[in-house]
Amino acid sequence: MVTLLSEVSIDVRGLTKRYGSLLAVDHVSFKVYRGEIYSLLGPNGAGKTTTISMLATLRMPTEGDAFVEGYSVVRERTKVRKVIGVVPQDLTADDELTGFDNVLLMARLHGYRGKEAEERAWDAIKFMELEDAAKRRVMYYSGGMRRRLEIAMSIAHDPKVLFLDEPTVGLDVQSRRHIWDLVRALKKEGVTIILTTHYMEEAEELSDRVAIIDHGHIVAEGTPEDLKAKVKGDRVYVKLKNGAEVAKALEVLSREFNDVKEMDGYVVIKVESSAEAMPQIIKLLSNFDVAELRVVRPNLEEVFLELTGHGLREEESFDAFKFRRLMRAVRS
Ligand SMILES: Nc1ncnc2c1ncn2[C@@H]1O[C@H](COP(=O)(O)OP(=O)(O)OP(=O)(O)O)[C@@H](O)[C@H]1O
Ligand SMILES: [Mg+2]
Repeated sequence: MVTLLSEVSIDVRGLTKRYGSLLAVDHVSFKVYRGEIYSLLGPNGAGKTTTISMLATLRMPTEGDAFVEGYSVVRERTKVRKVIGVVPQDLTADDELTGFDNVLLMARLHGYRGKEAEERAWDAIKFMELEDAAKRRVMYYSGGMRRRLEIAMSIAHDPKVLFLDEPTVGLDVQSRRHIWDLVRALKKEGVTIILTTHYMEEAEELSDRVAIIDHGHIVAEGTPEDLKAKVKGDRVYVKLKNGAEVAKALEVLSREFNDVKEMDGYVVIKVESSAEAMPQIIKLLSNFDVAELRVVRPNLEEVFLELTGHGLREEESFDAFKFRRLMRAVRS
């Protein structure tokens, strides 16, 4: 038995997972404190699901260990399972059953019987604001309702720790915000929450602390504010219609700006103030056919880029039409 450090809920020590020759999670260590929302932020294939699955005893570590509420995920798997709830990336609710019956099934799997099981299922349904849909079959649920149902299913036994693997992937903004509110409400109830995401807004909005993960490594950890403080100034992203001209644009821009580089097909100019630098940038690019131009202020995506040299995902950009109008204004 491991001695409980009262404030630590999850203590990860050198956790490692190999799939054949692939090192999916490479000696990762971190701590999550009780009542925290802790996010693993990283792109596809970073090792987020593998990490969370080892913590939730769904996959066995190749090396290392982690302690969830003091229990080893290698040696005390049954005890770990009693104190956790898991919402997997691939949804598990039975389409043919009602929402309520899905939750009830989970309450029974956790050993509750009769009235008590029903009460617990109903409480979880209410917490996730699904009363109205509770008696409808899951096949008629919207994407957001399904996600909320999955969370209801995972909290029917009052877990101390909740694992959410990509809780809002594929949802519209409104459904996403609704889930964020409910996750925050769970935190208020004292639940320790560890989630994975590749949405930087999600990590920024929800988390007390974030671990940025790439290729099985934690490359940075801290509060969103701590992490954002690592990148200073704005970045201007330029995409040219003709990729072959990137080298030329780098050269032209480098004459006036001292931090210009290529990243994922974009020319990226780091500046103190984009408002001040923009007219100059537009002038220097007047002989190039620009497909896209955008300004990015410090955010977690930028931190990720700075640390890893590649992006978390594609972002919305502002269009070429707007740029051409801007060009005309500058030229005239
Ligand atoms: N069962 C498995 N067998 C072999 N390789 C696997 C297995 N599961 C995951 N991998 C590989 O391990 C790496 C990490 O995968 P993982 O699913 O943990 O990443 P992730 O960060 O959750 O990605 P995503 O954002 O796509 O969910 C990837 O390269 C993946 O292809
Ligand atoms: Mg995953």
